[in-house]
Amino acid sequence: HQGYRLKKTVVLVGMMGAGKTAVGRAVAARLAVPFLDSDAEIEAAANLSVPEIFQRDGEAFFRKRESEVIARLLKQERCILSTGGGAFLAESNREMISRDGVSLWLNADLPLLWQRVRHKESRPLLRTPNPYATLAEIYRARVPVYEKADISVTCQPSLSIEAMASRVIAAL
Ligand code: S3P
Repeated sequence: HQGYRLKKTVVLVGMMGAGKTAVGRAVAARLAVPFLDSDAEIEAAANLSVPEIFQRDGEAFFRKRESEVIARLLKQERCILSTGGGAFLAESNREMISRDGVSLWLNADLPLLWQRVRHKESRPLLRTPNPYATLAEIYRARVPVYEKADISVTCQPSLSIEAMASRVIAAL
């Protein structure tokens, strides 16, 4: 690759709706480095969508595939790696990410996350009678874990994907 020389793979972590995939893609394009997405890799290998995997095989199965995929992707060439919102929760995942990569939390507040995910059908964890309450609960439980990331970049509703990509690049 001819692009920017990443010191390590940059692993984007944070809640669903934070923009990990969109911002990660924009950062990778600007730096001319590869972009990978753990959810997309899991889907491609299973030939099923993430909600289908949750439904058919359960969350525990998905988490196992997710750990395997992240381990494999961290061994490949340095890249921007977007992960699913739960990927940073397991300590073993955090350990491998900090060994082979640098973790970057896309820190969006609850109102912004809700605005982004409320109309989406693609988040199996939010398929509950009260998706807002579920999101709020997940958010409160996870923020202390996301705070362990090496770098934190704050999202704002007014910032475009490109503007967020600039913030991420400035933080690297
Ligand atoms: C999850 C987030 C999803 C996906 C799965 C579980 C989570 O990814 O991995 O539905 O636990 O927060 P996004 O963060 O890309 O939505």
